[in-house]
Amino acid sequence: MSSFESKVREALANPQNQGEIPDADAIGTVGSPECGDMLRMWLKFTEKDGKRVIDRASFQAFGCQTAIAVASMATELLRGKTAEEAKHLTASELTGDLGPLPPMKIHCGQLVEGALRNALDNDSPAAAPAEAGNMAPTLASSLHRKAGGTLRIVPID
Ligand code: FES
Repeated sequence: MSSFESKVREALANPQNQGEIPDADAIGTVGSPECGDMLRMWLKFTEKDGKRVIDRASFQAFGCQTAIAVASMATELLRGKTAEEAKHLTASELTGDLGPLPPMKIHCGQLVEGALRNALDNDSPAAAPAEAGNMAPTLASSLHRKAGGTLRIVPID
């Protein structure tokens, strides 16, 4: 078994931050047209040292084990980050200790990145005035609004 697979297994043995945050400040949902998997992420912010930072991040995945393992790592990594810092995290940074994803699994990491970006887009205080019309409080509207928008899919050879 490769070290990647064993790290995924380790992460799955004790996945972190699964489930809904009922009073979340932002929710993001994306689906992968490639495999049909879906991932939803919740963000809850707090004030720390005069900065608005992520207090908790959680997820629900209707998808593969890699997406669950990456989401578990990513939601841990997000704690203490500002929305701006979180926005700049790439899919490969979000994998944390799992390290680089094998080519066939890259889109699984991008599913997590997509859900995070969608949540940050839906975060009202972070919305720039130009994006004011973008504030979508409901899951249904977030699902329709960004159909495939933020998720990049890498074709598999
Ligand atoms: Fe679909 Fe991993 S196979 S997200």
